[in-house]
Amino acid sequence: MNMPVTAALAVEDMPQAQALEKRLQGDLRSDHAGETGAVWIYRGILALSRDPEIRTFASEHLETEQQHLAFFDDWLPPALHSKLLPMWRLAGWMLGAVSLLGGRRGVYLTIDAVETFVVEHYQEQIEYLQAQREHREVRAVLRRFQRDEDHHRADAAERGSGKEGWIARRWRSVVGEGSRLAVVAARRL
Ligand SMILES: [Fe+2]
Ligand SMILES: [Fe+2]
Repeated sequence: MNMPVTAALAVEDMPQAQALEKRLQGDLRSDHAGETGAVWIYRGILALSRDPEIRTFASEHLETEQQHLAFFDDWLPPALHSKLLPMWRLAGWMLGAVSLLGGRRGVYLTIDAVETFVVEHYQEQIEYLQAQREHREVRAVLRRFQRDEDHHRADAAERGSGKEGWIARRWRSVVGEGSRLAVVAARRL
C-alpha cells in the first residue's frame, strides 16, 4: 500500500540546510522532530500490541515514517536537529502506547488526529514557500511527504470509521493541541 516515497527524492538536490533562512530552518527542525515522533508512535504500538490487524497497520505506516525520517536525517546536520529529540521519541512512544487503551479504534483515532495535524503543518510550509517563490525542491519534498501523511490519515479514518462520542472528540482535540505545542517547541529548540 505504501510506495517507497524517497525513491525519486535525492538529498543531493536539496539546498544546503545551514544556508537556509532561519524561519525555514525552524520549520524543518519541527518536521524532523515530527517524523521522529511518528516513527516512535508506531514503535510504541508494535512493542505492546499483539493484534495482527494493528500490527500490519503500524508496520506499514512505520516503513514510510522511517523513510521520511531518514531523508531529514541525511539532509539536516545535527546542529539543525531539535535538542529535545529524546523527548519526542518518548512522547511518540507514549502516545502510541496510550492509544492502545482504546483498542483498535483508539489507535485509528489517534493516527487520524495526528496525521490531520501533520497534513496541515506541511500545508502551511508549502504555502509559505509558494508565496516566497523559492526552493521548489524543498516544496516538492514537503508535498510528497504530505501526500504520504494524507494516505495515513485516510487509512486510519477509513479503518476507524463510525460514530464518535465525546471522549473520542475530546481525545482528538487533545492530540491536535499537543501536536501544536510540540511544533512550537521544536521550531525553536
Ligand atoms: Fe511522516
Ligand atoms: Fe504519517
